[in-house]
Amino acid sequence: MRKKCLLANWKMLGDTQQISTLVEQLIVGISSGAPNSEVVLFPPAPYLRLVAEAIKATSIALGAQTVAEFAPGAYTGEVAAEMLIDVGCRYVLVGHSERRTLFAENDAKISGKFSRAMKLGLIPVLCIGETLKEWQAEETFAVLTRQLTAVFAEANDLKDFIIAYEPVWAIGTGKVASPEHVQSVHRFIRAILTDVFHLEAQKIPIVYGGSVKAQNFAALLAMEDIDGGLIGGASWQAAEFIEMSKMCLI
Ligand code: 13P
Repeated sequence: MRKKCLLANWKMLGDTQQISTLVEQLIVGISSGAPNSEVVLFPPAPYLRLVAEAIKATSIALGAQTVAEFAPGAYTGEVAAEMLIDVGCRYVLVGHSERRTLFAENDAKISGKFSRAMKLGLIPVLCIGETLKEWQAEETFAVLTRQLTAVFAEANDLKDFIIAYEPVWAIGTGKVASPEHVQSVHRFIRAILTDVFHLEAQKIPIVYGGSVKAQNFAALLAMEDIDGGLIGGASWQAAEFIEMSKMCLI
């Protein structure tokens, strides 16, 4: 059975007070020790250590929102995978659409980040998804194929990662994709994973992100190939996020 993953992307938001309060609420509300579910918090980089300390005796895991594709060295402003591991991260988001569009991260750069994370033992969460224009032009499957194959070109013996399908038109817009649409896309992604990783593809979690809330999450999770959620806005609401974490217990 694939594990269910609930991932909180806090983006570039929050301060010490807000993040400490939210983490304390989540620790109280999220049941610990469920073997088949994983809750991961992705705070902004300056708060990684604070969150790591707070969750160290819990089953909640820590992730970073991006990583450099380089080994440590003269790269002012960048953060190396080694440093993320050093402060307690187990996961890292790679290729979020905001990184792709606002920071010009192309497939080659994202592939470098993915490989670097895997090499160092960080579990990458590869974010993929089509824009509104691509969706309307019925290019979704072509875009996803390009985004996936760019990363797997050099990495076909690697298996410990998560895919997050986030249609750009659903992020922060309140327009959640229907469970049937997401399932059909996830099935397509699983077919690509199967071509590369064969039977192992069955173990790779594929989560959905884009305007997910407690109220629409159960219907998404009920689909065969939807293995969890990557949550933005609703992950700032402790009660919402705790409710979603309970839906992931299997
Ligand atoms: P929202 O849940 O706010 O739509 O954000 C989704 C997202 O970008 C998570 O990475």
